[in-house]
Amino acid sequence: MKPRIYLSAPHMGGEEMHFIREAFEQNWIAPIGPNVDGFERDLSEYLNGVHVAALVSGTAAIHLALLNLGVGPGDEVLVPTFTFSATVNPVVYQGAVPVMVDSEPDTWNMDPELLKEAIESRLRDHGKVPAAMIVVHLYGMPAQMDAIMEIALRYNIPVIEDAAESLGSLYHDQHTGTFGTMGILSFNGNKIITTSGGGALLSHHESFIDHARFLSTQARDNAPWYQHSHIGYNYRMSNIVAGIGRGQLQVLDQRVEARRKVYDWYQGLFAEIPGVTFLAEPEGVLCNRWLTCAIINPKKTAGITHKHLMENMAGENIEARHIWKPMHLQPVFAKHPAFINGVSEHLFHNGICLPSGSNMSPDDLNRIETVVRQTFSK
Ligand SMILES: Cc1ncc(COP(=O)(O)O)c(C=O)c1O
Repeated sequence: MKPRIYLSAPHMGGEEMHFIREAFEQNWIAPIGPNVDGFERDLSEYLNGVHVAALVSGTAAIHLALLNLGVGPGDEVLVPTFTFSATVNPVVYQGAVPVMVDSEPDTWNMDPELLKEAIESRLRDHGKVPAAMIVVHLYGMPAQMDAIMEIALRYNIPVIEDAAESLGSLYHDQHTGTFGTMGILSFNGNKIITTSGGGALLSHHESFIDHARFLSTQARDNAPWYQHSHIGYNYRMSNIVAGIGRGQLQVLDQRVEARRKVYDWYQGLFAEIPGVTFLAEPEGVLCNRWLTCAIINPKKTAGITHKHLMENMAGENIEARHIWKPMHLQPVFAKHPAFINGVSEHLFHNGICLPSGSNMSPDDLNRIETVVRQTFSK
């Protein structure tokens, strides 16, 4: 069997071991230490000065963002239906209700028109607007932030930006994750840079970051003994993990460049194959191309579907995946309100995420090309 080509494999830069070794030499293994401070500082610098708290995961960061906003039972939170479940789960941890909003076709992210409709409808039915909205930049593609922020401002709804997949992406020269009241990042194993597992909370409001640090380290009061006036969490990133992050951040721009090249390569490969389309980059946007996803229209490919391509790739030990299944179709969320226009369902029923790692070799690309050509020549 040929070696496996992964969808999005970790890609170390080389300096990670330096920071880890330093932590070992100083015996700074225990949580919190110079690498955590350093990683937060480096991230803040990369993101043009936003405040940062390094955490155990992106999911924990969303949870802390909701806690910072005081979201709880009786509240509703607007979320995109087209996302990974981790965007929505923390809303339910807080006893609040997710209100799902479908995508627009240009970026596949939350449709501003439908968002407005959802807010107006909740206002009519409940007499109040949702307590927050979570906006996702899926597959690295920035959402339509101008329109979304205008709506958020008009209705006075705080925005949590889920930039788990979009570190390195820019919207009108501004980093995704830095538009909203708070933003979150993920350094999960499959992300554009990884710490094996980890995340971060971002905000221009320092008080939110300070409070997140407090809550993420068991909410210990400023007292000589262990005293607690709040329920706390164990969500802080460890010093070893942060060392990986410091090394990875040094190569982030290279990773963005490499993934964008992978996207260009797929575009070239599929250029001759009718019926296969990709998500184009709107003007004023730079997408990190975390994953390259293709939409396959079987009416134009003589019946060849994304499933055929996925099966053929699996046969060659190449990992490809379905596009995210929308949240309103998930058994666990199906009972919640949803504003649906058919876009996310169309993407789910026809889309495939292609191997997009920044460390794929020329031989890997040759193997992918062979399967693609064989699949569509039938
Ligand atoms: C869109 C989105 N939101 C949130 C998360 C959660 O991040 P984490 O796995 O670090 O908890 C992920 C990735 O895993 C994601 O893709």
